[in-house]
Amino acid sequence: MINGQTIPAFKIGSIPIYGDVLLAPMDGYTDMPFRSLARKLGSAASYTEFLNAVDVISQHHSIPLRAAYQEWERPVFFQLLDNQPERLLEAAQRLLPLQPDGFDINLGCPARTVAGRGAGAGLLREPEKIRKIFHLFRQAFSLPVTAKMRIGWGHGEPNTHIELAQLLEDSGASALIVHGRTRQQAYQGKANWDAIAEVRQAVTIPVIGNGDVQKVADIRNMKIHTGCQGVMIGRAAIFNPWIFCQRERDQVLPWEVESLILQQLELNLEFYGIPRGLILLRKFAKNYLRYFSIEPILIRRLMTTESVDDFRNILHGVIMGI
Ligand SMILES: Cc1cc2nc3c(=O)[nH]c(=O)nc-3n(C[C@H](O)[C@H](O)[C@H](O)COP(=O)(O)O)c2cc1C
Repeated sequence: MINGQTIPAFKIGSIPIYGDVLLAPMDGYTDMPFRSLARKLGSAASYTEFLNAVDVISQHHSIPLRAAYQEWERPVFFQLLDNQPERLLEAAQRLLPLQPDGFDINLGCPARTVAGRGAGAGLLREPEKIRKIFHLFRQAFSLPVTAKMRIGWGHGEPNTHIELAQLLEDSGASALIVHGRTRQQAYQGKANWDAIAEVRQAVTIPVIGNGDVQKVADIRNMKIHTGCQGVMIGRAAIFNPWIFCQRERDQVLPWEVESLILQQLELNLEFYGIPRGLILLRKFAKNYLRYFSIEPILIRRLMTTESVDDFRNILHGVIMGI
């Protein structure tokens, strides 16, 4: 029994996924400490922040941290980002000794610096390259490879999600994560759940829906609306990681918020050391505390202290004052 589940919700390749709600990869957020806490709270698998293939191959100093995971986070998928099939393959081969459970190809990053050079969402406009990437990976590895895609490019071009999903399935993708927005929408506007439903109808591999899941009830609503096997949550999880255990933010008590922040602080200090672990925790703590009305001066003190002991003391004072 894993995550309180005895039967897998679905499988990615041969890997059983116990639970149907997953933390989305988010650059600058879903590092090992945050992912592992989300996993403990009920996220059903771990996807790393994107690993740029060029950085992997040039052994950029950021890669060992971005690819690090706790053993109990498994199944762990390394997400790769690039526009060149052979380079993506080489990066995956170099990462293989770290023993991920699978890889994911980023077909969604909308940033001009990424999509503009044909990587991330830029690949949506080059289906033959996508086919090649998945063929190369299928030939080289027995591990499952998933795709995290958007529904199209936008900017006046018709959505291509159905053709793309079928191409991905034909090319050996083990599951699809569908963010129901176009590249043009970036992170704005309503996610198109109808398009996710269309993908679900068009393929037989599992589909994980993503976009606009903000409340616990949205998880069920998305599943009913789209028929998808799993739901992936991004931004809502950095305000309410308890969403993975089906709890709305207003059901979480102040001491539980303090306890989570302290757990993440310990993980961060162990992982990044001092002061980086504390500095990187600040934005999370601010998000978790946003729900409460707290004097701005206290938040400022919490966000600016450079002492770990002071941080703990100020936090405790803040929590006691709620
Ligand atoms: C700060 C931030 C960083 C992100 N980084 C990644 C990334 O590294 N890889 C990826 O596939 N998607 C990334 N995304 C997109 C999310 O995984 C997700 O698809 C998107 O936020 C929509 O889901 P949501 O409406 O639940 O937030 C990022 C999103 C945000 C807000």
